[in-house]
Amino acid sequence: MKTIGVLTSGGDAPGMNAAIRAVVRTAISLGMNVKGIRRGYNGLIEGDVIDLDLRSVSDIIHRGGTFLYTARSPKFKTEEGMKLAIENCKKFGIDGIVVIGGDGSYRGARDLSNHGIPCVGVPGTIDNDISSTEYTIGFDTAMNTAMEMVDRIRDTAQSHDRCSVVEVMGRHAGYIAVQTGIAVGATAILVPEIPVNVEDIVEKIKKSNKTGKKHFIIVVAEGVGKVEELADIIEEKTGIESRATVLGHVQRGGSPTVRDRVCATDLGNAAVHLLNKGIGNRVVGYKDGALVNYDIFEALNMEKQFDFDMVEVAHETSI
Ligand code: ADP
Ligand code: F6P
Repeated sequence: MKTIGVLTSGGDAPGMNAAIRAVVRTAISLGMNVKGIRRGYNGLIEGDVIDLDLRSVSDIIHRGGTFLYTARSPKFKTEEGMKLAIENCKKFGIDGIVVIGGDGSYRGARDLSNHGIPCVGVPGTIDNDISSTEYTIGFDTAMNTAMEMVDRIRDTAQSHDRCSVVEVMGRHAGYIAVQTGIAVGATAILVPEIPVNVEDIVEKIKKSNKTGKKHFIIVVAEGVGKVEELADIIEEKTGIESRATVLGHVQRGGSPTVRDRVCATDLGNAAVHLLNKGIGNRVVGYKDGALVNYDIFEALNMEKQFDFDMVEVAHETSI
């Protein structure tokens, strides 16, 4: 393969820049040229393609976001969109593409591979919800940001003897909620993977209150429902003043942690090595802490195990 493209797609995640840097530097080290495709699959459809050299990716390893921009591209799912994307690959001499994004972006990469443009998917999403890998770029940074924000909320909850109900991101998954919840010592962690019983939470708060606990943190994954409603119910049933906070997009920004920079570099490097061997239609990731790669179709059909054990740990340590 002589020239590869790289794009970021779907929600941005801290560490995507480090992954792009790794792709560019590895490809050039192996004697390939690299094109940056901007705004995800939209850039491929519109021909928004730039040349990248060693210095194009200087000074980005520590920056959140993605300097190639990202987008959700409904048009890419259409026949017309795919046709334009393929034409532009030919026009710019792109022989293969590294796609950095989530499951949705992998589906696009699968379709492109099926149309003769070999792609390798690199897992990039704060949600850690990709089945074919234990870890996704951005997860650690997002959780550390969420933890720091909840620590601040705890200061004020403690001062007022309040209950704070905090919503974290995660789309339909509770991975951010479980680990952040443990890290902040939450009284309860609510995730979409486990049916929510509000009465149990109310009872737990009342019980802890009797043993002297006066302020409470409840961490709720966004996929569960409205935190305002839950805060109202808790206040009404326990008599403890309650407040709701939605952390929102602060979790998506900021300088990536060590873990995210290192994983991004490792995964980006691995993706390019596959393309350099002429291998496409794959995704890279981690299993039991080791680098692995799978066929995209197979990867998209895998099922991810949820951290039920960690939910139990959280439950037993938060009384
Ligand atoms: P993520 O990659 O973070 O899961 P999305 O689900 O928004 O984010 O997907 C990003 C983009 O990938 C979409 O805007 C679309 O262009 C492409 N994509 C998503 N799903 C499909 C699909 N089923 N087939 C082809 N392309 C898809
Ligand atoms: O997938 C990352 C994520 O931040 C989810 O946690 C969240 O549900 C979604 O993206 C938010 O998307 P948007 O940036 O379009 O508001």
